[in-house]
Amino acid sequence: MSDNKVQIFDTTLRDGEQVPGCKLNTKQKLVIAERLDLLGVDVIEAGFPVSSPGDFKSVNEIAKVVKHATVCGLTRAVENDIKVAAEALKYARKPRIHTGIGTSESHIKYKFNSTQEKVIERGVAAVKYAKSFVEDVEFFAEDAGRTDNEFLARVCEAMIKAGATVLNIPDTTGYCLPEEYGAKIKYLKENVTGIDKVIISCHCHNDLGLATANSISGAINGARQIECTINGIGERAGNTALEEVVMIMKQHPYLHLNTDINSRLLYDTSLMVSESMGMMVQPNKAIVGANAFAHSSGIHQDGVIKNRETYEIIDPVEVGVTESAIVLTARSGRAALAYRSKKIGYELTKLQLDDVYKEFLNYADRKKEVVDEDIHEIMKTVDVVAAVA
Ligand code: KIV
Ligand code: ZN
Repeated sequence: MSDNKVQIFDTTLRDGEQVPGCKLNTKQKLVIAERLDLLGVDVIEAGFPVSSPGDFKSVNEIAKVVKHATVCGLTRAVENDIKVAAEALKYARKPRIHTGIGTSESHIKYKFNSTQEKVIERGVAAVKYAKSFVEDVEFFAEDAGRTDNEFLARVCEAMIKAGATVLNIPDTTGYCLPEEYGAKIKYLKENVTGIDKVIISCHCHNDLGLATANSISGAINGARQIECTINGIGERAGNTALEEVVMIMKQHPYLHLNTDINSRLLYDTSLMVSESMGMMVQPNKAIVGANAFAHSSGIHQDGVIKNRETYEIIDPVEVGVTESAIVLTARSGRAALAYRSKKIGYELTKLQLDDVYKEFLNYADRKKEVVDEDIHEIMKTVDVVAAVA
């Protein structure tokens, strides 16, 4: 693996599926898992096998069909969870057990009523037990975002000695600032013995809208795996959005970070996940939202018609969107109206355009959006005939 490759760990089927109302059946999960494999993700977190017989079955079936990606199952630092996950993953070509425990002061005190030393002991025992089933063991230090860096470094060192191959540093509550999260990863890189033998993973939640920024900051500071979901779905405000981190790395080549994702499949994959989960994508969602490549104000439309790059930093084709959209509203100008009219067969002279534009504004003030059928009507009222039928 190149030093600059950032592995994409997709947790749509685990953290993403935890969203109320987003529950999927095994058949739906299999379709998504196969799509994620095609998309080029490195790891598919298929579920939490001990949590229910249905989840066990899904992980088990996904493990059988995934051809390229590592298939991962989540566990707590509990022997039975690990044993069940190993059983669910037994047909995977590349199985991974993802185990861990809370490491922040509040988790240790309120969740476990325990001590730092005992938490390390439990983590070590879990990693060693998981290693007795599979070679690839990822350890998560839950709430690492609010865990003191010195203690976190001790935890990481102990897990590396126990055999962990990947160390997940989750900002479970989405609290960190990008600089702070990046500094945490840097601190671990500089202070943990053996850190270069393992992959550091970012798992950031979006409670303050910083999940993507934090993950990128983590990667800039040495993390080489990002945990994310399609459309950014996940607990509460969600997880890091896969499509966002992938396109940030692609659009900023000087970062020298890359992934194996086929970005042209992003839009269709987003649709597939949103439809099967019944979870609508907000129109202004970066990369995959309905308005991500739509231009509606006159100034922007004029620019885009002259040259797409004036207002677009990504060629829509790169993410699987056929073309940018020029949406006609009361804020649109003559350039957009002439452009759209031409597309549907009306070549307008300057004088005609003035008349059509006046009538267009009347329509646009009454409607949210003027569509092609409206343009045909407008042309009739001002007596313009289409050049081509
Ligand atoms: O957010 C989190 O900390 C998690 C862990 C279970 C990895 O989802
Ligand atoms: Zn999470």
